Amino acid sequence: MQNIKQYLNKEISSALKECSGIQSSNANVTTSSRPEFGDYQANGVMSVAKQLSANPRELALKVIDYLEDNSIALIEAIEVAGPGFINIRLRERSVLSMANDLLSGKNDAISATDSPMKVVVDYSSPNLAKEMHVGHLRGTIIGDSIVRILEKEGHEVIRQNHVGDWGTQFGMLISFMQEIKRSDTENIPKELSDLEKFYTAAKARFDSDESFSSASRQAVVKLQSGDPNHRAIWEEFIETSLLHCDAIYKKLNVTLSRTDLDSESRYNDILEKIIEDLERKGLVTESDGAKCVFLPEFIGKDGDTLPIIIQKSDGGYLYSTTDLAAIKLRSEQMMADRALYVVDARQSLHFKQVFALAKSAEIASNNISLEHIAYGTMMGADGRPFRTRSGDTVKLIDLLDESIARAYDLVTEKNSSLGETERREIAEIVGIGSVKYAELSKSRTSDYVFDWSSMLSFEGNTAPYLLYAFARITSLISKSSESNSPMAISLISADEERSLLIKILQFPEIVNTVSTDCYPNLLCNYLYELAGIFMRFYEACPILKADKLIKISRLALASLTATTLKEGLDLLGIETLEKM
Ligand code: ARG
Repeated sequence: MQNIKQYLNKEISSALKECSGIQSSNANVTTSSRPEFGDYQANGVMSVAKQLSANPRELALKVIDYLEDNSIALIEAIEVAGPGFINIRLRERSVLSMANDLLSGKNDAISATDSPMKVVVDYSSPNLAKEMHVGHLRGTIIGDSIVRILEKEGHEVIRQNHVGDWGTQFGMLISFMQEIKRSDTENIPKELSDLEKFYTAAKARFDSDESFSSASRQAVVKLQSGDPNHRAIWEEFIETSLLHCDAIYKKLNVTLSRTDLDSESRYNDILEKIIEDLERKGLVTESDGAKCVFLPEFIGKDGDTLPIIIQKSDGGYLYSTTDLAAIKLRSEQMMADRALYVVDARQSLHFKQVFALAKSAEIASNNISLEHIAYGTMMGADGRPFRTRSGDTVKLIDLLDESIARAYDLVTEKNSSLGETERREIAEIVGIGSVKYAELSKSRTSDYVFDWSSMLSFEGNTAPYLLYAFARITSLISKSSESNSPMAISLISADEERSLLIKILQFPEIVNTVSTDCYPNLLCNYLYELAGIFMRFYEACPILKADKLIKISRLALASLTATTLKEGLDLLGIETLEKM
């Protein structure tokens, strides 16, 4: 089903086509920037008029006449403004009936798309030798919101957790483990239970001892050529590491599971074929012994063409080689329409190059859209990438636990009458919700400063604010005896009521924008505005004290607001609370 904006755009575009004779006419309908003039506006007349060298206002008037003759159910009033904009006011009756269809359950707020796609979403994708750290937070959370939104719209989503489980660091870990096993067997389980410590100890050894580092390099070769002994130790590392990830995903309420794993190691056997294929197509050049592809569109600072290295001089493969293999699978076998890569913006050049090479070498079909959904870095108050005081990377699990602890103090401070268990439960949801919302509400492409006090604040565009608004509306509804009878919105008596109603109906438009452009912060903004518009409605329009008919209608509107807030937060992966 179409949302209001799509519907208006289609109707007005076809009117514009009729009136101008230009087949490609697009009415370019947007929500109105000045609600006092209308609910929506069409901005497309001017450019069509320009193509015809016609007067835009005259063309706009023709379009309006045409629309009026053909009476469009949703439109109540339509008029020309400024140099040729068209302002549109929605018909109250239609708006009410759309809202009541949602309340009665006849329609869903987000209905299934008419053109479902198959979408691969590559997200979270940590490197496994270490525990997940704060650098993995944004991608994990943003990716998970995007998959929820795409699925809600009826797209087929294939989650891919492209974990790094095959690099040189595993040679180092294996060698270190072998050393320990030789000396003191009892140490092993204890050491491995802290992967981070183990990694740090192995790294120190690697950096300081030449014979150890060369043993490590040999260990990678053995691992990658399938030596059973090396393989067994490697599996132990991977399992320990994955257990850490599982715990994080569970705590974060992230929908990734083991079945979504798309480990780098799974591509080991086809990397050689990727190279052969590129060689056969005449794309490979040798440079300092390494196999490279030079695409003319990638020029470095010095004016030289940048290489895409696909095989090192020692025969080893690279991150790019694996990604080419993954693209082949996603395109050829999964036959995806879109492949989204929710990965740090610092990998932009990597993805530009790999995507361009995949297309030009026909590893990816023409039909697949390869998109890097880039995100910026999480910064500390000092304006540098977020770290502990001593300069170490912050383990993700520690950050989440701290957020829950802070939320617990907050809940205790606000509502000390609640029992301990209840406060713990609330703290869990508020603590996790706050971390997630802080990530989601910032435009993903920019770096942002991580700040406990603003993300846990009850004011502003935060999770506590929205969760509290939801809990308040829910409690308001439960206080009334009418809340159990079937509810419908029967009247619009104030501007605040109308604005709220229309805002609610715009929910699917925002969701659709996010599924196309992958900016979940737009959904956050929407929910924040919705809560604000509700508060204005609540101040201007008495509910519980109003006459019965009005009361029922307003309660129904409140209930629809609550449902929308909840659905929106669900799409962000944030749980709600009836009581806070
Ligand atoms: N493991 C990589 C890293 O930690 C991210 C992988 C992203 N996905 C991909 N297909 N390259 O940087």
